[in-house]
Amino acid sequence: MSQRHITQVLEIAAGLSPRGLAMAENPDVVYVATDLPQILAQIKTLAEVILAKLHIQRPNLYFRVVNALDLDELLHAVSPFQSGRPIAIITEGLLSYLTRAEKETLAANIHDLLKQYGGIWITPDVGTKQSWKRIAQGDKNYVQQRIGNISGATGSDIEKNIFVDEDDMRQFFIKAGFTIEEYPHASVIDELSSIDSLNLSRETVLEVLRVPKTLILTARN
Ligand SMILES: C[S@@+](CC[C@H](N)C(=O)[O-])C[C@H]1O[C@@H](n2cnc3c(N)ncnc32)[C@H](O)[C@@H]1O
Repeated sequence: MSQRHITQVLEIAAGLSPRGLAMAENPDVVYVATDLPQILAQIKTLAEVILAKLHIQRPNLYFRVVNALDLDELLHAVSPFQSGRPIAIITEGLLSYLTRAEKETLAANIHDLLKQYGGIWITPDVGTKQSWKRIAQGDKNYVQQRIGNISGATGSDIEKNIFVDEDDMRQFFIKAGFTIEEYPHASVIDELSSIDSLNLSRETVLEVLRVPKTLILTARN
């Protein structure tokens, strides 16, 4: 976002992410954190408690109840943004909970917003059946167990929802009208302070970061 000088941020399905609190420290940033009602109430209360404890304010941080599949709610949520200035839309940890049809609705909604404001969609939600298997590295039960746990807790059929492979994932975003830039997480290894502070082996961390990536998506005409 800073590379592209984007200061208007819409986080969809923010959960308990502290990103809004951190980024809105910069008074030039306008940050809108959204989620479904129950979770949003929790993050809003948490943020208020933290801000009160630290005796600071974040007038540029907004909380809005939004179902990501509802374009009207999204359009209402972005009212603090100035038109004519680009926005960044973040979704992290959302796509694998949505069915293919729901993902298509979400992508169409985001496409609409980006057509209106310009800017980018940032998402690391590009796990595939193929990549989960690679992460499991030989432990055949691991992926199945993890998928089963998440599906059980959320009621979403994760195994059915995640992309089949890289080609399926790319085709999805291309068909939805986006241009894709891919950033492998391994490319930021030299910026990770945790390797030294936790005394980790660089090779081990590199192995963990080998598979995941983040996409920067721009809306084609
Ligand atoms: C795994 S959490 C990720 C939270 C946060 N982004 C993070 O990375 O920690 C998934 C979030 O998606 C939200 N969510 C699920 N379906 C949604 C929908 N249709 N619209 C908006 N949020 C949704 C849930 O409420 C939950 O907060």
